[in-house]
Amino acid sequence: MKILIFDTSEMATSRAAQQIIDRVAAHPDCVLGLATGGTMPPVYRHLTNAHLAGSVDFASVTTFNLDEYVGLTPDHPCSYHHFMAQELFDATDFDRSQTHIPMGNAPDPEAEAKRYDAKIQAAGAIDLQLLGIGTNGHIGFNEPTSSFGSRTRIKTLTKATRSANQRYFSDGEEPPRYAITVGIQTILESRDIVLLATGESKAPAVATMIEGALSASCPATALQLHPATTIILDQDAASQLKLREYYFQVHPNGQETPIV
Ligand code: PGA
Repeated sequence: MKILIFDTSEMATSRAAQQIIDRVAAHPDCVLGLATGGTMPPVYRHLTNAHLAGSVDFASVTTFNLDEYVGLTPDHPCSYHHFMAQELFDATDFDRSQTHIPMGNAPDPEAEAKRYDAKIQAAGAIDLQLLGIGTNGHIGFNEPTSSFGSRTRIKTLTKATRSANQRYFSDGEEPPRYAITVGIQTILESRDIVLLATGESKAPAVATMIEGALSASCPATALQLHPATTIILDQDAASQLKLREYYFQVHPNGQETPIV
């Protein structure tokens, strides 16, 4: 794991966005894995601004989002279809026939999950997967006890996840109980992974992910098995890491340092 710690969440966010921009600039037809959640809109603002400034084009990129709520139609304001349109796709030049999100309202959600996983494999796997992390250590909607061998499937959401996401739903409306999520094995097949975490609430999950023992009880520990994962943190999210000084020494202020 490459662990980059920045002073501010803005710096961390900008570094994560830059990794995506660099990838697309070098490989305009790459396959990106995209994420939702409160951490991501600032990342997508960077991508949008870079596009509007003429420094990156997304027209040939293929994307696969990590997850979608079961039962929500794409036009539901809390669906991840809606989130992605609003936060990224509508203001950029992504070819919408090449942007993929599981269909939460598919008549057979299990079949939809299998179809979606097969589509990722048919695209040749993800080149660069963007991830957030839940306070319970989930990646995508792979909740605690998710198998490291899991592929795209239905997961029952924990109370913690549903409570964390309640704020996006209107009064009287509860977040769905189930989601379709890309599996941990599917995520681990990505060529590169970049996980962004900011804020103190993420510090315990971040510490377990990086320094804890491999365990399905913190699904993000699976990333320890991946050979090309970059974890991008602000100081608050990094605050419970025991080896924080060491990570900072290897990458001062999150910078790459030449080996001499
Ligand atoms: P957040 O969620 O960005 O809203 O904190 C991250 C996640 O649950 O993966």
